[in-house]
Amino acid sequence: MNDKVYIFDTTLRDGEQVPGCQLNTVEKIQVAKALEELGVDIIEAGFPISSPGDFNSVIEISKAVTWPTICALSRAVKKDIDVAAEALQYAKHKRIHTGIGTSDYHIKYKFDSNREEILQRAVEAVKYAKKYVEDVEFYAEDAGRTDNEYLARVVEAVIKAGATVVNIPDTTGYCLPDEYSQKIKYLFEHVDGIQNAIISTHCHNDLGMATANTMAGIMAGARQVEVTINGIGERAGNTSLEEVVMILKCHKNLGVHTDINNRKIYPLSRTVSSLMNMPVQPNKAIVGKNAFAHSSGIHQDGVLKNMSTYEIMDPQDVGLDANSIVLTARSGRAALKHRLEVLGVKKSGEDLDKIYDAFLLLADKKKEIHDDDLLLLAGAHGQDHHIKLEYLQVTSGIGVRQVASVGLNIAGEQFESASTGNGPVDAAINAIRNIIRRNVVIKELTIQNIAGGSDDTCKVHMQVESEGHIYYGFGTNTDIVASSVEAYVDCLNKIQK
Ligand code: KIV
Ligand code: ZN
Repeated sequence: MNDKVYIFDTTLRDGEQVPGCQLNTVEKIQVAKALEELGVDIIEAGFPISSPGDFNSVIEISKAVTWPTICALSRAVKKDIDVAAEALQYAKHKRIHTGIGTSDYHIKYKFDSNREEILQRAVEAVKYAKKYVEDVEFYAEDAGRTDNEYLARVVEAVIKAGATVVNIPDTTGYCLPDEYSQKIKYLFEHVDGIQNAIISTHCHNDLGMATANTMAGIMAGARQVEVTINGIGERAGNTSLEEVVMILKCHKNLGVHTDINNRKIYPLSRTVSSLMNMPVQPNKAIVGKNAFAHSSGIHQDGVLKNMSTYEIMDPQDVGLDANSIVLTARSGRAALKHRLEVLGVKKSGEDLDKIYDAFLLLADKKKEIHDDDLLLLAGAHGQDHHIKLEYLQVTSGIGVRQVASVGLNIAGEQFESASTGNGPVDAAINAIRNIIRRNVVIKELTIQNIAGGSDDTCKVHMQVESEGHIYYGFGTNTDIVASSVEAYVDCLNKIQK
């Protein structure tokens, strides 16, 4: 059996389905190019029929990327497949990913159908997609809960119809590793012609078993894994790319490998986290802030004597920069540009100038500028906003009235208002509401400290509701009230779009 495991990255499709994590096309191209440099084999660039934005992103990513195969998702519906094929027109290597639910739950409740009809629809979809592209992947949605005998019939039929890859998703994250492994083994033992296709894993993490199930799938013979950076994805997420890649690197005895350039993992993890406004949990394997931090005395002593006592990987193997430099107000534009590049962000000309100006302002307030600060600055200065916060002044404390005045620039026009509230944030939001005169209700407000310390940059994640729709906004500042107000203004700009 082939000893290469193909890495199919779905950060820009399954990963991007997380509420509040949507990227614009420019940001998606940035991630796609970084995925290409990382060495992924296939990039799932979107679900083109789902929205004009997704359609356009697949077009632009196809133009921007050379080596990886670009994949577009579709349901087993002719119109979906037509649109996927159209979106892939510029891809140098293209794949259509089509499929249908095969578990009895899906057949009965989603399709009100029966097994024979679903099998027929699966075969028709593959044959139809084959008219457009040679490389067709079929997914048996909810394969994790699909009866193995029926699943084997579907897999055999779609391979006969021309599927080059067959994806066995554990859509609900339900399977136990042994169960998932038995499923893949069953297919290898019972499907005629299985050697003509690659079997793929696609595991969700609802019970925290996505990586374990993916590994079980590989050990049972799967040679493609569907993964996302940082394991992002709907609900509890997908299998994380970095975990599978580093497991295979650490366990060479498994006899399989990937073509991933593992030293690029960490910078890309940071870029995705920053662009998607999705913090990485500190204890996350491989890319968490604490993944290589030994705090107990016994561990520190051991690692100082010899790294292998407590470390199974060299942090530099995943691109953790041991000599990570901290920038200050005296750092020049070149140092900033270089550091951003190390973090996977390429900026030049006017864009770099804007970030550098913001960097100097921040460096005046904060002695040391860390990587997370830089990623926040790079993200914040990518777009032009319709509504801008011109100024904010607050009086707050104990025994005084909480008052705020704000100045907004809305499409070039200046507006000012002042208000009171039960605290400085409430007062400032009330002042903004006086100007915008619409009911935009804050549903959630989370404050995140970036590096630590009272002079740190803080990041506010906000969810608001307006006319029955939910919007997400973000704000970063060394001032906690200002970041909350910036997050609110960011939400208003998203409503405006
Ligand atoms: O989880 C899943 O089943 C999917 C399919 C659409 C591949 O994401
Ligand atoms: Zn999925």
